[in-house]
Amino acid sequence: MSARIAQIRLVSSHPEVYEPCDDSFALVDALLADRNNLLEHKPTLCMEVGCGSGYVITSLILLLEEEANRSQFFATDINHHAIRVTRETMEAHGVYAELINTDIALGLENRLAGLVDLLVVNPPYVPTPEEEVGREGIASAWAGGENGRAVIDKILPVADKLLSKRGWLYMVLLTANNPSQICRQMMKKGYASRIVVQRSTEEESLHIIKFWRDFDIEVDPKDAVTNSNPGIVDSVLSQFQRLSSFWRNSDSSSNS
Ligand SMILES: C[S@@+](CC[C@H](N)C(=O)[O-])C[C@H]1O[C@@H](n2cnc3c(N)ncnc32)[C@H](O)[C@@H]1O
Repeated sequence: MSARIAQIRLVSSHPEVYEPCDDSFALVDALLADRNNLLEHKPTLCMEVGCGSGYVITSLILLLEEEANRSQFFATDINHHAIRVTRETMEAHGVYAELINTDIALGLENRLAGLVDLLVVNPPYVPTPEEEVGREGIASAWAGGENGRAVIDKILPVADKLLSKRGWLYMVLLTANNPSQICRQMMKKGYASRIVVQRSTEEESLHIIKFWRDFDIEVDPKDAVTNSNPGIVDSVLSQFQRLSSFWRNSDSSSNS
């Protein structure tokens, strides 16, 4: 059965809400690329942090259609306009998720701790002056502070708390966010990672990275990896090395 995703003409909008853009499309493409694995995975609780227009969460529900009846969906956004726009987008597609206007997952962390099988995040990742982070409205969609990491670095520990033992996280990151460092950081918490989609535009190099708990990675109480599976580390780091050399040698055309 071919996969359905959200239709742009049915996606609602508001001047203060992020419109689906290259990063949103790359995230949905990554979910499509991994769809067979997702269907086999049978996630029972799925969540998006920072749902914006609702394009990604709606697409996720539609592409998991065969499993969606058995799954529960949640989406949060710090921007209350985004919650309304997402509701309209979902209604236009005939799908449902519980929508919560909150900072990352504040107020949900205890309820959902260890239960989320699938978490998707297209965070505000653009490097900006720190004072732009957390501003009301549309600025909250992109302002990421130094290295674009201010919100990302808050989301990662929350993700670790929410994800179930078999939880998967898909996150959009820019080269400027230092994704290989984020992968190493997550590895210290016991996560393996791989790049599902990489796309270069004139303005940015986007990576959609999938993280999952890998029980071969042993983490000691001081948060150091003591007996990691070297194959995993080598594999993700060599992916970044190959991509860096690609970016140096290529023009800025798209690839994935
Ligand atoms: C780059 S936009 C992505 C929107 C949508 N997911 C997409 O891919 O088109 C980032 C979204 O995260 C939301 N956001 C920013 N900081 C947040 C926070 N601390 N908690 C929840 N949502 C946040 C913004 O309001 C915005 O809607």
